[in-house]
Amino acid sequence: MPSTPLYRLVYSSIYRAGRVDNELSALRAILSQSRKNNQTSDVTGYLMFDGDSFVQVLEGPRENVEATMARIAKDERHRDVSVIAIHPTESRAFHNWTMGGYRRSAEQDPIFAAHGFPGKIDRSQLSFDTAVSLARALCADQAKQAS
Ligand SMILES: Cc1cc2nc3c(=O)[nH]c(=O)nc-3n(C[C@H](O)[C@H](O)[C@H](O)COP(=O)(O)O)c2cc1C
Repeated sequence: MPSTPLYRLVYSSIYRAGRVDNELSALRAILSQSRKNNQTSDVTGYLMFDGDSFVQVLEGPRENVEATMARIAKDERHRDVSVIAIHPTESRAFHNWTMGGYRRSAEQDPIFAAHGFPGKIDRSQLSFDTAVSLARALCADQAKQAS
């Protein structure tokens, strides 16, 4: 039986500070909520956060990715949500992650710099391919640090 076609979506947004949470606990809460929901909806991906911008890659069956994106877009923890693109894909890039991700720290600066962002992420310069490549590189780096 043919499996459901896979899609990959990339968006970016701006973090909106909460009244109670600091940014690290906000990110932790987002990731744990995402992992729980994405497991159920067969969505995988990677969330990057540099203290100002979020950039997220979502992959899975199109309907599930779009339903997840629709929920995310309404979230008050960020603003200016801008979908860059959604494209079909042969396979998942983040199959190990119901939602991987982390807060940028100085150690990842070379990886961001190699993708054109020596400083903060400039959302106007962020393409779909750059976002996916950056997420793959950060994910690989994270796996290396953990091993
Ligand atoms: C930057 C950001 C990324 C998010 N990523 C996801 C995600 O990948 N999957 C998900 O289900 N919710 C994600 N959320 C949370 C959703 O916006 C929403 O709060 C959540 O899906 C609602 O889940 P609930 O109905 O279980 O409370 C994200 C929120 C933010 C601010």
